[in-house]
Amino acid sequence: MSYFSKNNPIGIFDSGIGGTSIWKEINVLLPHENTIYLSDSINAPYGQKTKEEILRLSIKNTEYLIKEKCKIIVVACNTATTNAIKYLRKNYDIPFIGIEPAIKPASIQTKTNTIGILATKGTLNSELFEKTSSTISDTINIIEQIGEGLVELIEAGKIASQEMESLLKIHLQPMLDQKIDCLVLGCTHYPYLTKSIRKIVGNSIKIIDSGEAVARQTKNILVKRNLLRLKDSKSPFFYFYTNKDKKILEDILKDTSPTHIEKIDF
Ligand code: DGL
Repeated sequence: MSYFSKNNPIGIFDSGIGGTSIWKEINVLLPHENTIYLSDSINAPYGQKTKEEILRLSIKNTEYLIKEKCKIIVVACNTATTNAIKYLRKNYDIPFIGIEPAIKPASIQTKTNTIGILATKGTLNSELFEKTSSTISDTINIIEQIGEGLVELIEAGKIASQEMESLLKIHLQPMLDQKIDCLVLGCTHYPYLTKSIRKIVGNSIKIIDSGEAVARQTKNILVKRNLLRLKDSKSPFFYFYTNKDKKILEDILKDTSPTHIEKIDF
């Protein structure tokens, strides 16, 4: 028996503002859900940290969201999912939804049998990613690329900068040289770079991320547990908390209608 009600919020966390790309997908599919988003920007990027550090930060975020009485937690971070979700599921009595790079869908869509994956060092070096990639690597050539520096620039509000374009060119060229036809965005910050990436890779390469799939999975689990919040006379709340610069979070959410954005310590 679940001790949560439908009105309890969905908790979502990421190392920073990137997971808002997942929040947006969830909000499109589940517009009546109350949500609390945690942007651990003070500790970004997670991708360069050790597994132990990523685990410690994931526990800290999880415990905050549990304290806020969230009914489900979406780990809107590939790096945290691939390094910590196994531990979280084992140690906390709450459903977790994780996000992993969509290399399996890419392996189905590729015609050249060569796919590229852009992700953090923490994700690409994780056991979980190794395991998933080993299931397709017999037939598919996977070109891995660490997106070094990309998260830092996004967190600094430099999404559409010359610096970003130059860095993206450096990261994407090796994959273009190897003739990939699918590019997997393996970090929740990267959907914000799709426009710039498209400019560099052209129109023939498919760009794939896992955002929609995560939203669908969140809905499935809520339905299964009878926790889905439907339209109600009371409007839903969308709270966003960051432990760093509030302005960056406000900017990334300007096309949405957050109820409340606040800088707090967590
Ligand atoms: N947004 C993150 C991810 O999906 C983490 C990036 C980072 O902090 O390095 O991997």
